[in-house]
Amino acid sequence: MNERRRLGASGIVVSALGAGTWSWGDAPFWGYGGMPDRTEIAAAFRASLDAGVTFFDTAELYGGGGSERLLGTLAREAGRAVIIASKFTPFPHRLSARTLHTALDHSLSRLGVETLDLYLIHWPYTLLRIEPLMDALAEAVRAGKVRAVGVSNFDAFGMRRAHDRLARYGIPLAANEVRYNVFARQPETNGVLAACRELDVALIAHSPLIHGVLADDDTPLSVGGPRRFLHSYRGERLRAIHAMTATLRAIARARGCTVAQVALNWLLCQDDRIIPIPGAKRAAHARENAGALGWRLTDTELTIINRLSAPDQQ
Ligand SMILES: NC(=O)c1ccc[n+]([C@@H]2O[C@H](COP(=O)([O-])OP(=O)(O)OC[C@H]3O[C@@H](n4cnc5c(N)ncnc54)[C@H](OP(=O)(O)O)[C@@H]3O)[C@@H](O)[C@H]2O)c1
Repeated sequence: MNERRRLGASGIVVSALGAGTWSWGDAPFWGYGGMPDRTEIAAAFRASLDAGVTFFDTAELYGGGGSERLLGTLAREAGRAVIIASKFTPFPHRLSARTLHTALDHSLSRLGVETLDLYLIHWPYTLLRIEPLMDALAEAVRAGKVRAVGVSNFDAFGMRRAHDRLARYGIPLAANEVRYNVFARQPETNGVLAACRELDVALIAHSPLIHGVLADDDTPLSVGGPRRFLHSYRGERLRAIHAMTATLRAIARARGCTVAQVALNWLLCQDDRIIPIPGAKRAAHARENAGALGWRLTDTELTIINRLSAPDQQ
C-alpha cells in the first residue's frame, strides 16, 4: 500500500506507517528471554517491506546496539531501499554535545551506512542544553552523515527551542517522536501536536499499540518481562485499557479487521503529520499492522473511540 507521509520539511517522504525495532535487540525488556530470534525477525522485516512499510526506527540504546546491527544487516541482505531513523542517547556521562559525533559514528558503523536518514535526540536531558545538541546535529548534517534531524520525547517548549536553533543553519526540525496511542493522547493537549502543525514537524507515534497490550483476543491480556511494571498495566489503568480494547474489538469485528489495525488507523486519522511505528518481531504482526493502511475509520467510528479515550488520560 503506497500511503506516504513527509518527515516535516526535510524533503524525506516515508511510508505512512513505520516499524519500530526496539524489541529486535532487547530481549530482557521484551520478556522473551535469550537472544532475539534472527529468523523470526528477518521474516518480520521482509513482511514489512513486502507490505510497503519501509521506514524503520531504531536507537543505539536498543539492545546495546543490537537492534541497529540487525537492522543494518537485514537491510543490506534485502538490497531494498529503506529509510532509517536512529537516536542519540543523552546518557548522564555524556555531558558534552561533542559526544554525539562519536555516538553517531558508532551508529553508522553498526548500521553499515555512510549516511543516516534521520537522527533524533532520544529524550531531553537537563544537563545537556538543547542548543549545543542542535549545533552538533547541524554539524552532522553539514558533514553529510545525516540527512534529517529531530528530537524524541520533547515537550512543545523544547521543540520550539530545537526548531529555532536549527533554523540558524537553515535545517528544519523534521520530527518529534513521542508516545501517542488511543489511550495516551497527551500530544493533543500538551501542545506537541499543535507545535508539529505550526512548525511543520512530523509526529512519529511510538508505542502505538501500548507496548502490545492492545491485542485482538478475548483472553485477559498478559504482558511478560519488565513491561508489566510500566504504569500502563496497573490497576485502574489496565482495566480502562481493557474497556477500550473491547470497543476497538467491536469496531474491528464489524469491519472485518483487527484491534491493532483500528488502533493504528485511529492514529493515522488524527493528522497527516502522524507516522505510527508499531514494533513487531513476528511477520504476522508486521503484515497485520500494514493492513492499517489504505482505508479510514468513519467519523462515527472515530466519535465512538474518542468518547471512550479522553485526551487527558495518562
Ligand atoms: N523514542 C522513544 O522513547 C521510544 C519509546 C518506546 C518505543 N519507541 C519506538 O517505538 C516502537 C514501537 O513501540 P513499542 O515497541 O514500545 O510498543 P508497541 O508498538 O505499542 O507494541 C509492540 C508490541 O506489540 C506487539 N504487536 C505488534 N503488532 C501487533 C499486532 N498486530 N497485534 C498484537 N500485538 C502486536 C509486538 O509483538 P511482537 O514483537 O511479538 O510482534 C510487541 O510486543 C519501538 O520498537 C521503538 O522503535 C520509541
